Amino acid sequence: MKELFLLDPEVTFLNHGSFGATPRAVFERYQAWQRELEREPVDFIARRLAPLLEEARAALGAFVGARTDDLTFVQNATTGVNLAARALDLEPGDQVLSTDLEYGACVMTWTRLCDFVTVPYPELFEHVTDRTRAVFLSHITSETALLLPVEEIVREARARGLATIVDGAHAVAQVDLDLDALGADFYAGNCHKWLSAPKGAGFLHVRPEWQDRVDGVITSWGYAEPASFISRTERQGTRDSSAYLTVPAAIDFFREHDDRERCVALCREARRDLCELLGTEPIASEEQVLQMASVRLPRPDADLNRWLFDEHRIEIPVSHDGTLLRISVAPYTERTDVDRLLSALGELYA
Ligand SMILES: Cc1ncc(COP(=O)(O)O)c(C=O)c1O
Repeated sequence: MKELFLLDPEVTFLNHGSFGATPRAVFERYQAWQRELEREPVDFIARRLAPLLEEARAALGAFVGARTDDLTFVQNATTGVNLAARALDLEPGDQVLSTDLEYGACVMTWTRLCDFVTVPYPELFEHVTDRTRAVFLSHITSETALLLPVEEIVREARARGLATIVDGAHAVAQVDLDLDALGADFYAGNCHKWLSAPKGAGFLHVRPEWQDRVDGVITSWGYAEPASFISRTERQGTRDSSAYLTVPAAIDFFREHDDRERCVALCREARRDLCELLGTEPIASEEQVLQMASVRLPRPDADLNRWLFDEHRIEIPVSHDGTLLRISVAPYTERTDVDRLLSALGELYA
């Protein structure tokens, strides 16, 4: 599998989670779209692009269990979360309830717009007040890499009349999604992480009753009537949409090489071995771990990421003030990669 990816063979790449990594064949499709655009830019952008995007959206919809018309492509999950947050028309004093495990950039989004209340997720609904407007949570968290019970939380929030916004940046292609059945008001996802599409391929799924309230990042031709939330958000001036158009090729590659069972098993095994070597307790139950696992370090070490890269050419993130190490297991990850990490860490912690 390693040869199917473009990754530097000199690096033990254990950080698929941050930005993904694109297979050679998918990247070639991406470049082919770019070349096609440059062969006849006017024909491509003015005439062919809208139906091509619709086809790509239909393929994505089939993959994530959504109607094509409820999905719009956006650059990344952060953009999706921002569009959703603005669609809520929050007023000063309005509260959005969330977990204490959310991704930093999205925490910044909410903090600018409302009174953002973060609590441990099992206690979420104990903190609902008459000012609570919405619930925001990750499907799989970032630094702690935990699968959260979003179905249960969305159901409960809706029963209480609260809007729901799910950050699914890591869930696409780790979890089999059925966004229609999940029923969240907004679900933001990334195809450039675990689906291995080129960078800049995110999406936002919006329930029909909210779509009129979703504004684009900028006002452009997508606002010309007859406008839709898709035209308003996808048409953002002249841009290269090749990453979106490559999503169907990424889905084909994923289906052909779906290796999640092995990856999850290897990731859980790596977590057990890391905890044993480091002498720390697992941060959560094994069922919450899929293809990423975070383990606690025995003492804070903010320089560990740099040391592992400089001394061993191992790429792996350390977060939470140097206390959490997060391993990613992708189709190209092998047991020998985990062994290289264990051996390097052994120099410091054995
Ligand atoms: C939970 C979560 N949400 C959102 C993001 C942001 O993704 P992007 O930068 O593609 O918007 C990340 C990135 O790692 C993430 O972990």
